[in-house]
Amino acid sequence: MQSLSIALGERTYPIYIGPGLLSETALFEANLPAGALCIVTNETVAPLYLDTLRKTLAHRRVVECVLPDGEPHKNLTTLARVFDSLIAGRVHRDGAIIALGGGVVGDMAGFAAACYQRGIACAQIPTTLLSQVDSSVGGKTAVNHPQGKNLIGAFHQPCAVFADTKVLQTLPDREMSAGLAEVIKYGLIEDASFFAWLESAMPKLRAREERELVEAISRSCAIKAQIVAEDERETTGRRALLNLGHTFGHAIETAVDYQGWLHGEAVGVGLLLATDLSARLGLIDPSVIARVKSLLESAGLRTVSPRVAPEQLWELMQMDKKVSGGKLPLVLLNQLGDAQLRRDVDQELVLQTLRHYQP
Ligand code: NAD
Ligand code: GLY
Repeated sequence: MQSLSIALGERTYPIYIGPGLLSETALFEANLPAGALCIVTNETVAPLYLDTLRKTLAHRRVVECVLPDGEPHKNLTTLARVFDSLIAGRVHRDGAIIALGGGVVGDMAGFAAACYQRGIACAQIPTTLLSQVDSSVGGKTAVNHPQGKNLIGAFHQPCAVFADTKVLQTLPDREMSAGLAEVIKYGLIEDASFFAWLESAMPKLRAREERELVEAISRSCAIKAQIVAEDERETTGRRALLNLGHTFGHAIETAVDYQGWLHGEAVGVGLLLATDLSARLGLIDPSVIARVKSLLESAGLRTVSPRVAPEQLWELMQMDKKVSGGKLPLVLLNQLGDAQLRRDVDQELVLQTLRHYQP
């Protein structure tokens, strides 16, 4: 097992990574508050892992809340079911929510914990690769509103994160690849040697070999933990670097109305577009583009945009909730392993990049 911690003063918390953590009673005991616990999960994950977790926590008073699966359910109506379970189960401020699932469950359970009785503890047990390397770490919690994704939320750091790599064995291949896009992102923004390691380890990661999974998740979480510790609330621009590829990715997701493209798949193409744009601006050597494309391909990800007019994608990029003062912020690469936030990128250059990756 690997462990690291995210340094946030009195809100510092551990992240544990390894196979079989779901059965580690002592580890949970050491990291959970003493009161009643509410496991929040969904209809897909519950049949796979809820029983194991029940046994691990057999000596505790536990209530359960099994939500419908999917992003369309990440809303205030579903959230109310979590509050109903907490109230019916008499969970008080000395208790905790345990999120058992991917990013949708984690974001909703985290937001419920931020609000319930003005805030209770939340432990995250992320069960997708994306949630193990990204959404369970850093304290962003939210639900969607019909007008936009994650519009209603709060910063609420978990009390601990337990990333059990064994649960990734049941994850569908597409979801695995989607998570790998975020892993590749960390190499691009912060660590060229991690990127190079991924180039050789990718086949083993896709085969879900434990050693490589633990290494990839630990290195990703270490990078995220460092960035979040430096800029918890995304005020200095440092945390915004985690959005490499995301402005392009969000535009793609919106253009296809979230149909046929997973978030990580859109981010994967976004990483390539951001790399291409960085080369057009003369920030990086164009040879990096081929390396990024090849790594995305070996991760099972797409490297071509959907059939959407570049001008429409440009318009959708302006809707990104991070746009302020009319300026579109874009994360770009200075070199492999080093990124910067820019607000002065010429529209025509962005359009050239978007045109280049049309099908
Ligand atoms: P998800 O939670 O929808 O999970 C993907 C699918 O895999 C679901 O059908 C789920 O039930 C299933 N699943 C989960 N674990 C499984 C397992 N071990 N075996 C088999 N199936 C399993 O999607 P996701 O990619 O994990 O998360 C996406 C969400 O995360 C989005 O709502 C996004 O907004 C959010 N997010 C939040 C942050 C943050 O910082 N809070 C960061 C990135 C993404
Ligand atoms: N997923 C981006 C962030 O946590 O800031």
